[in-house]
Amino acid sequence: MEDALTLPPDAYRNENFHKAETKNLFGHAWVCVGYTCQVHEPGQVFTTQVAGQPIIITKDHQGILRGFFNVCRHRASILVEGPGKYNRFRCPYHSWTYDLSGALTACPLFDNHSPSFDKKDYSLLPVRLETWGCFIFANLDQNAMPLSDYLGDIVEHYKNFPLHELVLVRRKNYQIKANWKLVAENFLEYYHLPWVHPELCEVTAIDMHKRNQGSGMYMSFYAHPLLKSGSALDSDFFPPMPHLNTIEQNAGYFPFVFPNLATFLLPHHLFVLLMTPKSVNLTSEYGDLLVHPSLLNEPNSEQKINEIFSFYDMVNDQDIGAVERVQDGLKVESYPGGRMCYRFEEPVHRFQNMVIDFMTHERRSYPSDEY
Ligand code: FES
Ligand SMILES: [Fe+2]
Repeated sequence: MEDALTLPPDAYRNENFHKAETKNLFGHAWVCVGYTCQVHEPGQVFTTQVAGQPIIITKDHQGILRGFFNVCRHRASILVEGPGKYNRFRCPYHSWTYDLSGALTACPLFDNHSPSFDKKDYSLLPVRLETWGCFIFANLDQNAMPLSDYLGDIVEHYKNFPLHELVLVRRKNYQIKANWKLVAENFLEYYHLPWVHPELCEVTAIDMHKRNQGSGMYMSFYAHPLLKSGSALDSDFFPPMPHLNTIEQNAGYFPFVFPNLATFLLPHHLFVLLMTPKSVNLTSEYGDLLVHPSLLNEPNSEQKINEIFSFYDMVNDQDIGAVERVQDGLKVESYPGGRMCYRFEEPVHRFQNMVIDFMTHERRSYPSDEY
C-alpha cells in the first residue's frame, strides 16, 4: 500500500473501459438495489437498473422476494414503468399479463394460436436477489457466489445493529457529473475531511478514523467516540437503535459493500449513498435516510429527521463538488495518475484492487486491516 498508485486515468473517462466495466464488474457483482421496506407488502414494486439492465423488484403473494428483468416476453416492451402497488404485471403494448411470481397468465387472442406455444415457456426472466438486513442485492450472474460468502465477516461486525428493521424515511436523487468510482472513492477516504467538510469534522475528525476491516467484498472504518458538535448527528439527538453496545451507541461506522453501497451507520440512523453508473461520467446517486421505526414515536421526530437529512444533504453537496472537479481534472491527458496515503486512503486502494479483479477475472483475497 505504501507504493500504491491510483487507477489509470482512462478508467474514469474512457467509454470502452466503461462498457467493459458494465459487463465484467456490474454484470457479476452483488449490486445493492434498494431496501426490504420498499417491498414490505406483496405487490409493492420498484424498478431499477443493474449493469444498464432494467429490473423489477417485488414481493409475490406468497411473501417471496422476486427480481425480474423488466421486459415483456412477447416483443420486449418495458413491462413496469415505475414504483407502485401491483396485483399483476400487464404489458402496455399487447396486454400479456404475468402474476407476481413471474408466470404468464394471459395473452389475449393468442391462447390457441399454435400447438407449439405454451405459456409456461414465457415466464418473466428472473434475477437473483438476496438480502442482508434492510439491503436487497441483485446479481445478474447465475453462477456468482452466494451473497453471504461475498459479504464475508461484515455481517458479524454489524450484528448488533437491527438493520432488518430499519425503514426508509427520506430519499433524494443526485445526478453527479463524475464517474461512479470517483463517487465511491471519495466516500472511502477521510483525507479530504478537513478541507471539504468543516461541519462534519466537528462530529468525526480526520485522525479519529480507524479501519475495522476484515475479509469480504467490503471496506469498513469507524470513528469513536463521536464528538459533541451541536448538530443532528450527535449521539444524544435521538435515542440509539435497540441492542447496541456502549461503544456502538457513541460511534460512527462507515461500511461500504463493493461496488455501490456506501453507508453512514450512526447510533440513531443509517444514511446510505446508493450509486448507479449512467455513463462513463454520470452517476445517479440516491441519498437515503433509514431509521428504526421506534424513532417515529419520538417527540418532534419528523422535524428532527429533516435536520439529520439536511446535514447529509449539505455534506453530500460538498462531496459532489469535489468529485466533479476531479472528473474535470481528468480531462488533462498528461496527468499520469497519482499516489495514495496508507493512513487515510487504504480503503480506496482496496476498492481499486477489487475493480481490477473484476476487470481481469481474477479473485484475490484481501488482508484485514485495523490501522
Ligand atoms: S410486447 Fe408485451 S404484450 Fe406485446
Ligand atoms: Fe466527503
